[in-house]
Amino acid sequence: MSKILVTYFSASGVTKSVAEKIASVINGDLYEIEPKEKYTDADLDWHNKQSRSSVEMKNKSFRPEMKENSLDISSYDTILIGFPIWWGVAPTVVNTFIESKNFQGKMLIPFCTSGGSGMSYAENDLRKTYPNYNWKEGKRLTGRENDEDLKNWIN
Ligand SMILES: Cc1cc2nc3c(=O)[nH]c(=O)nc-3n(C[C@H](O)[C@H](O)[C@H](O)COP(=O)(O)O)c2cc1C
Repeated sequence: MSKILVTYFSASGVTKSVAEKIASVINGDLYEIEPKEKYTDADLDWHNKQSRSSVEMKNKSFRPEMKENSLDISSYDTILIGFPIWWGVAPTVVNTFIESKNFQGKMLIPFCTSGGSGMSYAENDLRKTYPNYNWKEGKRLTGRENDEDLKNWIN
């Protein structure tokens, strides 16, 4: 059976710990989507309209560069893509990642963490932006799920 790949972007560590938990529970491989320029606390200030994240997220077509991108996805049939919700949707560096590979023929499963927003708006946005890919139902996770919950969800 082929391994599952768990990819994620995390600015402040919440999604990272959830991704690590999922990978460990399902014995998957882990890959971090890293922006070339890390987001500082000031960059993440959503109260400030001039902060980097505010400016970037206002422009739907902006694609922040990734740090490295030598990942080979050819051996994976199922790929999870995790991210924090930013302004209701996935941070644009996730788009950079998705657009850097060909996920045709793969099963894509989104997951997110958030301050409260659900998954469906961000998930629909991904489906609409990349309609040719095989998206499965995603899930908002909190980090408080137990191993069984995570296994059942993936299965
Ligand atoms: C720029 C920015 C925008 C955010 N927008 C939302 C939002 O629209 N809805 C929400 O519930 N949480 C929002 N959050 C909170 C994050 O989704 C949440 O804290 C997440 O768990 C952080 O994950 P991370 O530590 O992996 O980066 C936002 C956070 C940032 C930094």
